[in-house]
Amino acid sequence: MKLAVVGTGYVGLVAAVGFCELGHEVVCVDNDGPKLQKIRDGVMPFYEEHLQQLVRRYAGSMLTFSNDLPSAAREAGVIVIAVGTPAGENGEADLSYVEAVSREIAGAITSYKVIVEKSTVPVYTSHWIRRSMLLNGAPAGLFDVVSNPEFLREGTAVVDFLYPDRIVIGGDSQRAVDLVCSIYRRLEDGSYHSEPTGITPPRQVQGGTRIIKTSAAGAELIKHASNAFLAMKISFINAVASICEAVGADVSEVASGIGSDSRIGSQFLRPGIGYGGSCFPKDLKAFRAVAREAGYDFRLLDEVASINDEQGGRFLRKVRRALWTLKDKKLAVLGISFKGGTDDIRESPAVPIVRALAREGCHLSIYDPAAMERGREEFAECHTISFSSSAYDSAKNADALVILTDWDEFATLDLKAIRETLKYHLIIDGRNLYDPAEVVASGLGYVSMGRPDFFPENHPVAQSPESKRNGMVAVRAV
Ligand code: UDX
Repeated sequence: MKLAVVGTGYVGLVAAVGFCELGHEVVCVDNDGPKLQKIRDGVMPFYEEHLQQLVRRYAGSMLTFSNDLPSAAREAGVIVIAVGTPAGENGEADLSYVEAVSREIAGAITSYKVIVEKSTVPVYTSHWIRRSMLLNGAPAGLFDVVSNPEFLREGTAVVDFLYPDRIVIGGDSQRAVDLVCSIYRRLEDGSYHSEPTGITPPRQVQGGTRIIKTSAAGAELIKHASNAFLAMKISFINAVASICEAVGADVSEVASGIGSDSRIGSQFLRPGIGYGGSCFPKDLKAFRAVAREAGYDFRLLDEVASINDEQGGRFLRKVRRALWTLKDKKLAVLGISFKGGTDDIRESPAVPIVRALAREGCHLSIYDPAAMERGREEFAECHTISFSSSAYDSAKNADALVILTDWDEFATLDLKAIRETLKYHLIIDGRNLYDPAEVVASGLGYVSMGRPDFFPENHPVAQSPESKRNGMVAVRAV
C-alpha cells in the first residue's frame, strides 16, 4: 500500500519506518525542508533505537521524503496525520496543525483516501477533521477518517510499533476501518514476527497482535484514558512511597505485593521523582480539558498531576536531610533525560531538581549517556553546573552522588570505585535503581524513594540507628 505520513516527529517517523517494515511504500511529509534533508542523510532528529538503521535501510526505496503535501496526498491511498498537538493555554490540545493539514489534503485529493489520525488528540477530533475537509471542498464520498492512536514509548518506540500489546482502530466507516486493519495484517497474523531481518522482539511473542475495532470517539478516548491511567499508577505508587517512608516500610515490597494481583499488574508501579516527557504531563492536561468540555469535572486527574508535581520537592528535602546545607556542596548528578533510553529532557523531572540544587549553591557535575547536548543548552547560563564524560568522572571529588534518571548503566555501576571518589560515601537515588543491601555492602550510604535510608554500620551517619537489618543500619526516612 502507498502511505503518506505527515509529520516527522516521534510518532510520524517511527510509524513511517514501521510501515516500511510491514511492506508498505511510505512518503514522509514535513514542511521543514532542512529537517527532511538531514533524515534523508541518515541524521535522526532524536535518539531512538533502530530508527537510524531502518531509515538507512529504506530511504530512497520504500521510504521517500517530501515537503509537498498536496502531491503526496494525491498519490497515497492512506494519509496518516502525525503532526504535533502542543498544549494550549488552558491545557487543551492545540489542534491548529491538524486542521491546517486537513485543509490542505481537502484541496488536493481527487480519489478516495483514508485519513488516519495518529497524533494524540481529544475526542471528536476525527469528526472535526471530517468537517474541516468538507468545509474546504473535499467531496463526502472521497474520504473517511479513522483514529489509530499510537502507544509508543520513547526509547523503545520502534519495538513498541512492531510488537504492540494491541492495535486500536476506530472509525465509523467499515470500509476505512478494514483498509487500515489491512495495513497491520503482518502484525495481526504474526508473520512479521518470524521475519528473519525483522527487529528482535522485546519478549517471547506468540501468535499475532490483537486489533481492537471501536468507534472513532472510542479510539480517541482509549489513547487519553490509557496515558492518564498509567500516570495515575505512577502517582499512586509515589503517594504510597510517602506513607512507606513515614512508617518505615519498603515501597518495593509493597509495589511487588500490589502488582502481583493480576487485576492491578506490576508495571508502572516504580516510585521515583515523578513522570515527565512529552506525553503524560501534556495528555493529562488535555484529557482534563476534554472532560471539562464534556461537562465532567475529572478532579482525580488534578490530584494525579499534583502528586507528581510534589515529587521534586520531596526529593530535594531528602537531599537536604542527607547533606544538611547545600551551599558549596559538590554533587555528581546522573541523568537529566526524563527517563532512560532517550535524550529527551522535555518536562523531565530531573531538570527542575538540577535548577533548584544549583539555586541553593550546589556545584553540580552532570553525566547523561544521551542528553548532554540538550543539557548544555538547558543549563547554559548556570556557571555552577559542569558536564562530565562518564558517571565515574562526574563522581570524582563529589560529596555525594545523585541519580535522577533510570538509565540501565546507572543501575550497574562499580559501587566500590564510586565509593573511593565520594567524600560523604553517599548515593541519593531518585529512581530506586539499587537493592539497598548491595549499596551498603560497597560501603556507601543509600537514600532512595519510599524506603528507609540505609548506611553501613561504620558510616558516620549511622550513629542513632532505629533498627538493624542484615548488617546494615536502616534510618527511617522521615
Ligand atoms: C508514554 C506512554 O507509555 C506511551 O504509551 C505513550 O504513547 C506516550 O507516553 P513515554 O512518555 O515515552 O511513553 O514514557 P514512559 O515509559 O511511559 O514513561 C513516562 C514517565 O513515567 C517517565 O518519566 C518515567 O520515568 C516515568 N515512570 C514510568 C515512572 O516514574 N514510574 C514507572 O513505573 C513508569
